[in-house]
Amino acid sequence: MKEIKTVRYAKDTDLLDILKLDRENFKSFYDKDFYLKKILDEKILIIEFNKEFVGFICFEFIFDQAEVYKFVIKKEHRKKKLGLLLMEYFINEMKDKGVLKIFLEVRVDNSSAISFYEKFNFKKLRKIKDYYTNPKVDGYAMLKEV
Ligand SMILES: CC(C)(COP(=O)(O)OP(=O)(O)OC[C@H]1O[C@@H](n2cnc3c(N)ncnc32)[C@H](O)[C@@H]1OP(=O)(O)O)[C@@H](O)C(=O)NCCC(=O)NCCS
Repeated sequence: MKEIKTVRYAKDTDLLDILKLDRENFKSFYDKDFYLKKILDEKILIIEFNKEFVGFICFEFIFDQAEVYKFVIKKEHRKKKLGLLLMEYFINEMKDKGVLKIFLEVRVDNSSAISFYEKFNFKKLRKIKDYYTNPKVDGYAMLKEV
């Protein structure tokens, strides 16, 4: 069967999928109102695989700088280059908007995400002590020059 991968801006109808995926994957997650505002502001891109919601990126940008808040692909759909497609789409969108630097934070023990980000030339800027809580874990701040 042909595999169709689609990236688009999130709509209100994606809200429940976004909330669920966030809660399933992270110890700290955002609430409904936060995501509704982000959807309205076009600060969430989602990816579909054969029309099924399989992941999203939530971000902010102001002037020439962007920050990634969340980036996640459903567990059962990982390692199919879906994250790759979503990240490429996001970077191109940011380029179009004049963004020069993209920042993000990642747990120091999240080696798969660190490898993923390094693939896009994100570089570790510094370690942030106890960036994550419950339990306390250090984070890396990473930066990509667009
Ligand atoms: C990180 C994540 C988004 C990657 O998504 P994905 O769709 O599985 O990634 P892709 O299939 O597009 O992989 C692209 C490249 O990233 C790297 N990569 C992805 N998963 C990896 C893993 N588990 N281990 C090492 N490298 C990995 C590889 O270089 C890979 O290229 P390759 O397949 O040619 O080796 C996904 O694992 C995820 O959602 N993790 C949980 C949420 C999370 O940790 N988000 C980041 C929080 S800051």
